[in-house]
Amino acid sequence: MRQLVYISTVHRAVATTIDPATILAASRRNNARDGITGLLFFNGKRFLQAIEGEEAAVATTFARIQADGRHYGLVVLSNREVAAREFGEWAMAYQPPGAADPAALDRITTLAERAAPDVRGTFEGFARAA
Ligand SMILES: Cc1cc2nc3c(=O)[nH]c(=O)nc-3n(C[C@H](O)[C@H](O)[C@H](O)COP(=O)(O)O)c2cc1C
Repeated sequence: MRQLVYISTVHRAVATTIDPATILAASRRNNARDGITGLLFFNGKRFLQAIEGEEAAVATTFARIQADGRHYGLVVLSNREVAAREFGEWAMAYQPPGAADPAALDRITTLAERAAPDVRGTFEGFARAA
């Protein structure tokens, strides 16, 4: 099973109009079909996402995400083989821009609790710094 984690930046042109719910809806539909689980965190400026599933499904999904004009500058932070899923479901957490939100951090901590320590640390660090 493959797990990929990347970070990206929202396009300024769409930053104020982007609707995380739209991304969530498409992702939920496609990911359920393709057996992809993971976590998408958005803080109004950057996305941090983990996707995991069968090798081919992860490759296809990531190619589609990369081609999405709503974000740019994708950097893969981690690309590893995992014995079992670390994110059992598909979820998204949104932290509105501005002050760090303890509720968002709590949610991230819960959603990433079974992820490998470095992956969990990446999500928690991102949520704290945002
Ligand atoms: C930050 C970000 C994360 C996304 N994550 C996913 C995802 O996990 N799965 C997915 O199918 N689409 C994801 N998308 C949406 C895809 O880029 C694309 O819009 C969508 O797959 C198109 O689906 P449709 O052809 O069913 O409308 C993401 C988009 C963005 C900007």
